[in-house]
Amino acid sequence: MSSPNPATTCLPASGSNANRAELPENALVLPPTTQLQALLTIIRDEKTQRGDFVFTSDRIIRLLVEEGLNHLPVVPKTVRTPVGLEYEGVTFQGRICGVSIMRAGEAMEAGLRDCCRSVRIGKILIQRDEETAQPKLFYAKLPDDISERYCLLLDPMLATGGSCIKAIEVLLSHGVKEERILFLNLIASPEGVNNVCTKFPKLRMITAWVDEGLDSRSYIIPGLGDFGDRYFL
Ligand code: URA
Repeated sequence: MSSPNPATTCLPASGSNANRAELPENALVLPPTTQLQALLTIIRDEKTQRGDFVFTSDRIIRLLVEEGLNHLPVVPKTVRTPVGLEYEGVTFQGRICGVSIMRAGEAMEAGLRDCCRSVRIGKILIQRDEETAQPKLFYAKLPDDISERYCLLLDPMLATGGSCIKAIEVLLSHGVKEERILFLNLIASPEGVNNVCTKFPKLRMITAWVDEGLDSRSYIIPGLGDFGDRYFL
């Protein structure tokens, strides 16, 4: 009998993502499957060209959206199938909206629309205030009835968490309940996860991967560089 081909042997969970036990309870990390690791390897590679970067990021975003939807409440619903029998299923309870943190978060809007066809999507622009060095709200366009909705907050890279915290404060000031916020993210730093999830213990965050940390410019390491530049430029 031949030995298994090493190229097809499953890899164990590896990297800092394996120490998920240390993360706050409201931080959920996608299972570190080999498929996810292969997708992340493509988008992390500096040699990956824009077309492949977009295609591959979109696949990970799709995984995040599908997992995010699992965290919305459902109620029982019975339907009749074409063979004349009843099926006791479920249906989502309550309405949702997406809110992207510009500009990189806009890359996640299509993935949300692919799963929720006519979903309302708002936008928040936060930039660093040159005088105070603090994140400052520059623009917000949110659905009028956002306070009645579950809100999927979209931002692919969570570095220090400053912009994300500001965005969450904007949502709360518009009446969104903290427990109705689901933050979807591709790659996070441990600092960012802790800052966001301990400040807002009732929200839930879903990330694809938690990296090692931040460099002196607050880039995630090993990370993938500037997500917005690689996705849009
Ligand atoms: N935003 C990015 O695009 N990349 C990082 O590493 C951190 C924030």
